[in-house]
Amino acid sequence: MQDLKTLSIGGTNNVAREDIVVGLDIGTSKIAAIIGNTWQGDTEKIEIIGVGHAPSDGLRKGIVVDVDLTTAAIRQSIADAELMAGIEIGSVFAGIAGGHITGQTSQATIAVAGAGHEITQVDVDRAISVAEAVSIPAEREVLHVIPQGFIVDNQDGIKDPVGMSGIRLDAYVHIVTGAVASALNLVKSINNAGITVENIVLEPIASADAVLSNEEREIGVVLADMGGGTTDIVVYKDGALHHTSVLALGGDHVTNDIATVLRMTPQEAERLKLSRGCACVDLVDQRDTIPISRVGGARRPSFLQVRDFAEIIQYRMEEILSLIHQEIIKSHVPVPAGVVLTGGTALFDGLLELAERTIPYPIRIGYPRPLKGLTDRVNSPIYATGVGLVIYGAMKRYSEPHRTFIKGNLFDQILKRMKDWFRDYF
Ligand SMILES: Nc1ncnc2c1ncn2[C@@H]1O[C@H](COP(=O)(O)OP(=O)(O)OP(=O)(O)O)[C@@H](O)[C@H]1O
Ligand SMILES: [Mg+2]
Repeated sequence: MQDLKTLSIGGTNNVAREDIVVGLDIGTSKIAAIIGNTWQGDTEKIEIIGVGHAPSDGLRKGIVVDVDLTTAAIRQSIADAELMAGIEIGSVFAGIAGGHITGQTSQATIAVAGAGHEITQVDVDRAISVAEAVSIPAEREVLHVIPQGFIVDNQDGIKDPVGMSGIRLDAYVHIVTGAVASALNLVKSINNAGITVENIVLEPIASADAVLSNEEREIGVVLADMGGGTTDIVVYKDGALHHTSVLALGGDHVTNDIATVLRMTPQEAERLKLSRGCACVDLVDQRDTIPISRVGGARRPSFLQVRDFAEIIQYRMEEILSLIHQEIIKSHVPVPAGVVLTGGTALFDGLLELAERTIPYPIRIGYPRPLKGLTDRVNSPIYATGVGLVIYGAMKRYSEPHRTFIKGNLFDQILKRMKDWFRDYF
């Protein structure tokens, strides 16, 4: 595979190492780099060989707001992962999220022209590209075009129409777009760390590859990745993506609530949240107290009822869970396999119980599925996106090399769209 030569792995040797896929999760709370040996795209054999992470200070609500701080954290996480793996990496599959992300479903109809009206791959590609050609504003970048299903004449629910006979072919595709400026700052932060971007992937799509089974995606399932700055939601049915949404709310809001109500610094509030936080008031010991010191408060610690503390957390978590429920209703997609909660905020004690009361579906907490190698290092919902990026990258690189490898420079491509945007604007 010629393109892979660009993946400069092995330092100055520049050895083509097409088996190496790197997932770079640029989150609001942490940046995680995960190096996987993908054994020719065999997802059953993927081996984690390096993991690095660094605190993330350059993002707000999933969006890069300080390129230099983000670049520094990317450098650190990649250097740690490289050290662990004993190799140098050149490119990554990077995650993107933030409130600017939107998903829409588009439909197109084409006439099947070929001999005997037998549908070929060319017809399918043509139908998808017509559906893809919906007018996307110049300031938005298309991140994913995911076929949902096809209708041949009046027969619906068809996944692969190639070889079938018909006069008319309808294609349904889900198109995910994001703000050009946000994608540009993300790519810039990575490029400034000396790394090229092989592809940008919507974070919950990557997380889904790590925590959902194919059966769940077939039956109908919701994945909510509850991070620090955002809660990213995707809904799958019949094996395809049907709904995408990013809520600009996450665990950081809980931390801020605690800091405000208890008059603490955000650092103290975060420490207390992680050590004593519970999202369900009914699960805590009613008599239990926590000694706390407040900003500018008395020298002697005061005592906080654990129940009152849980109430602060439950209030915000109920809001986030209700918004997830509303997104399910909005999607109009039946989800008998229920809701899978992942991301760091899914680690809250009592969250499962609260979610079961708030959302009338089966709920489970999603851990990345075990891979080979250093899998215990990433066995947490916090790493769902990073592990998923490795799995997604492995599948894309081998199944759709023509789509995965961005011809030319991704940065230049996004920049061109941005120039078009300014030209249209002025
Ligand atoms: N044990 C825990 N209990 C409750 N919350 C936790 C726990 N561990 C981590 N968190 C919270 O999870 C959040 C970080 O999760 P994660 O690493 O998935 O976010 P991120 O990917 O960096 O952010 P985002 O996806 O929103 O950009 C923080 O708000 C942190 O306080
Ligand atoms: Mg995240």
